[in-house]
Formats: sequence, structure tokens, C-alpha cells
Amino acid sequence: MLDSTLSALKNYTPPEGWGGHIFLLPEQAMRDIYQFILDHKIENCIELGTGFGATSCVMVAALEQQQAGQLLTIDKYIHDPVNVNVLREHAGLKPDRLQAVGDPLGYNWYLADLVAKQTVDGVCQPLFDFCLLDGAHEWEPDALAFNLVAKLMKPGSWVAIDDLDFCLRMIPNWQESHGNHTDKELDAFQMKMVYDLVVTQHPDFTDFHISHEGRIGWARKKVPQPKTWLQKALGC
Ligand SMILES: C[S@@+](CC[C@H](N)C(=O)[O-])C[C@H]1O[C@@H](n2cnc3c(N)ncnc32)[C@H](O)[C@@H]1O
Repeated sequence: MLDSTLSALKNYTPPEGWGGHIFLLPEQAMRDIYQFILDHKIENCIELGTGFGATSCVMVAALEQQQAGQLLTIDKYIHDPVNVNVLREHAGLKPDRLQAVGDPLGYNWYLADLVAKQTVDGVCQPLFDFCLLDGAHEWEPDALAFNLVAKLMKPGSWVAIDDLDFCLRMIPNWQESHGNHTDKELDAFQMKMVYDLVVTQHPDFTDFHISHEGRIGWARKKVPQPKTWLQKALGC
């Protein structure tokens, strides 16, 4: 399933004049995420930052392979003319495991609504087994994004944060896209800041490791341990 999906994506011919590139994660990272889903029998996935949807398709292929699970992927835009729905259809993947959301306000507003919907008696009921955060690549939206999605992650679930080794100045035409940013914003490795200052210091997460030559940071939501007899006796 993985090889056929990747080969269909590689064979995709975009409409003439479209100058983009559909692969925004290295092939090995996409292969590893596919295998990770299968190895951990992951069912409910969320992707923050769909891009053109190549990695979404690989995740959907894994869910189809194991015949279980759903991917919710959120972006500010359903990009045109190339997007996740176009690539999914091209790759021959069924629509039923994919929910692609284009929310012009971005994933933090979408997550706010989802957290509100999931909140019962002041406690957010978690939904997801795996989250790929690969969106804004900026400290302000993504520190909040992690804190919001953390509430929606189930005990034992995993979060992967892409592009720890990226700064905005690396964008070839950064003057065009981010010319109004300060040097501090352009030169900071903002996703590494999110990982070091928010993710690895979050009291509910554990099992931190970085893969793909410093690119992807991982964290697992802790599973609450049953109280010991001493804690129970002391009423802790
Ligand atoms: C690097 S691409 C995602 C790549 C995709 N995960 C993949 O592997 O193919 C980043 C995407 O995040 C989206 N994005 C940036 N900031 C966002 C925000 N605040 N909310 C939602 N989407 C955002 C951009 O529109 C862009 O499509």
C-alpha cells in the first residue's frame, strides 16, 4: 500500500503552470510515519498543516492498510489547484478515512472549537492517537497549537513536530514571504523553541526523542499510573 501510494504521488502531473512541489516531507520521514501508524496501531490522527496533502495521503494509506482509523487534517487553505482531495483521488485512496478542513482562521481557532466541543464538566475529553504538527513554523501560533492539541491527545498517544532544524530565513524567497519579520524571528529555529520550551517541559508528556537528523521531535502523552496504596492512604 505504501509503495503504490508513493509511486502514484510521484507520478502525479500537476496542471500546467503550477510551479509547486507536492512533497514537503522527505520520503523516508513519510515512510517512517506510515510504519509508525501500523506498528502502534494508531487510529485517530490529526495533522496541523495539510500543505498539498502528500503526507496526509500516506497517513490515509496506512489507515486503509490496517482497515481502521481516520485522519483529520487542517490548513488555512484547501490549496488550488493541487490539494489533498486531488492527491487522494489520484492515489486511489478512498474518501472515508479523510476529513480535510480548510479554515481561514487557522488551526488554533479550529482547535479552540474542538476543545470546547470536547469539554465536559470542565475537562477536555481526548480524541487523537497521533498528531503531526507541520504548519506555521512560527513560535506564536505553534506554541499555542501544541498546548491546544495536547488537551485532545489520548493517554499514550504520540505527537511529532516537524522542522526543528528550520528557520524562516532558509526560505529561498524569504524577503517576499517574510520580509516584514525581524531578524530575531527570521533566524530563530522556532519549532525547536516550541519543542524545547513547550513540548519537553509539558508535565503531561514523556519519551522525548528527535529523529531524521534533527528534523522531527517526538513526544508521548503520559499514561496516568494507578495510585499506590501509600498515595491512597495519604489521600493524595
Ligand atoms: C509545510 S506545509 C504542510 C506540509 C504537509 N504536512 C506535508 O507533509 O505535505 C505547511 C502548511 O501549513 C499551513 N499553515 C500555516 N499556518 C497555518 C495556520 N495557522 N493554520 C492552519 N494552517 C496553517 C500552510 O497553509 C501550509 O499549507
